[in-house]
Amino acid sequence: MTHELTAAGLASASGKTTESAVEDTVGWWRDAVIYQVYVRSFADSDGDGIGDLRGVRSRLPHLARLGVDAVWLTPFYASPQADGGYDVADYRAVDPVFGDLADADDLVRAAHALGLRVIVDVVPNHTSDRHPWFREALAAGPASPSRARYHFRPGRGADGCEPPNDWESVFGGPAWTRTPDGDWYLHLFAPQQPDLNWEHPEVAEEFASVLRFWLDLGVDGFRIDVAHGMVKAPGLPDIGRGAQATLIGTEPLPFFDQDGVHEIHRSWRLLLDSYEGPRIGVAEAWAPTSERLALYVRPDELHQAFNFRFLNCPWDAAAMRTVIEESLAATSAVGAPTTWVLSNHDVVRHVTRYGNGDGPRGLARARAAALLMLALPGSAYLYQGEELGLPEVTDLPDEVRRDPAFRRTAGQDGLRDGCRIPLPWSGLEPPFGFGPSGRSWLPQPRGWGSLTVAAQTGNPHSTLELYRAALELRRALPGLGSPDAGPLAWQPAPEGVLLFTRPGFACTLNTRTEPLELPSPGRPVLSSAPVETDGRTVRLPPDSCTWWVL
Ligand code: GLC
Repeated sequence: MTHELTAAGLASASGKTTESAVEDTVGWWRDAVIYQVYVRSFADSDGDGIGDLRGVRSRLPHLARLGVDAVWLTPFYASPQADGGYDVADYRAVDPVFGDLADADDLVRAAHALGLRVIVDVVPNHTSDRHPWFREALAAGPASPSRARYHFRPGRGADGCEPPNDWESVFGGPAWTRTPDGDWYLHLFAPQQPDLNWEHPEVAEEFASVLRFWLDLGVDGFRIDVAHGMVKAPGLPDIGRGAQATLIGTEPLPFFDQDGVHEIHRSWRLLLDSYEGPRIGVAEAWAPTSERLALYVRPDELHQAFNFRFLNCPWDAAAMRTVIEESLAATSAVGAPTTWVLSNHDVVRHVTRYGNGDGPRGLARARAAALLMLALPGSAYLYQGEELGLPEVTDLPDEVRRDPAFRRTAGQDGLRDGCRIPLPWSGLEPPFGFGPSGRSWLPQPRGWGSLTVAAQTGNPHSTLELYRAALELRRALPGLGSPDAGPLAWQPAPEGVLLFTRPGFACTLNTRTEPLELPSPGRPVLSSAPVETDGRTVRLPPDSCTWWVL
């Protein structure tokens, strides 16, 4: 690819040496902006239509220029790809489709040379059914010690032909699959993702070794997949109502958010702290309340947990304020900063969520929500493409869909491919610079020519330039973002409007569909839509967010 650079080339392009340019900051994660790269859809270096590690490396300058602090890479490990790589067959190998270990090593070094930290995914709740442990367990037969690393059980009913309990998979259907020898095994996700038994000492030992492997390679931390699921209630009790488990549910369940998971996270914290760093752990955890979620970020546990309540909050000023207040209160009670996130590879992109069928309105709200998020104290996660204002692609043909839940639920669920469309970088036609061939593993909409990085660069009205300006200001003004800069104070505001101040800074959010006049809180420095102010009053546009210097 013409834009591909070597690590040295990257470093000289940025004016930095090949040495790490990552600043030695003790609490770097407390207000870090972390960009999620869904590797398969970011950039393809070899023309097979699938994004890869060399592709990511070649596009690091985009991330450095955007102004993020770190990159989180979704799983690129050896995997049959039954669930986009969240089914790992070898935790220490790179899947050939994404490159090899040398590519991973080069990528980490190149990122560090640009001052970007690198977080990788770890998937400890389940392995792939092609993992050597699971193959061994299947071959060894019922009651064999190799089966004890997973949850194998005899069935219920006549001839054991019914599952051992009533749990349902997050991806639809029973959470149990029967093997030819009659035993059943547990999989909270797809049948190709058998759940590990974390009571087995070898499981903990193996994952400690896997973490060390990647820490030794130089990664700055881990995003821990299903961090709330590794421990199941003793005896695997029935739920009693046959309801399907959802990953984002808030009801207590016997397989999520069990107290025992915290022991694992404590041991991982000790391991992370034994490395120079700090190296961090971020939990993908769903808990019934903000208080339960905060338990994952107690001082001796993980550094961060995704705040999915913020992501799930509707476009409603009062609801947003409640989520913000409760999130800040819950995490500050344990001395941790809050995280904020609007989109990821598992949910409908927020342009489309907020728009509810109205594209321009969705984009206006998404831009405003981004400024709101980046003004809040704590760490913010961006999902690739949100800086371009990408919408969800909702009209993918069934035959190209890969989400395993799509087929397990007969198309009622499993629509996550719509947020995983390969990124548009440049040009007027697919694949929009995604790779050197015309291929992309999911089709891109033909109309994305105006959404590419190249098309938006230099256009002051573009979403990309809005994100760039926001991240630059966030670095310059500590009152933005830093949880240590001082309190967030809510100021009186009309219904549908949020107004809060931070040291030297104010933020207004107008969620109403009409403009609104207010006394001007200060000097406007950035807005998601043009504001009119005479210095004394301001006319806030509908669905907009504005940053003010006091
Ligand atoms: C997490 C991942 C999701 C995956 C699931 C099972 O929720 O984000 O993509 O399907 O775990 O590993």
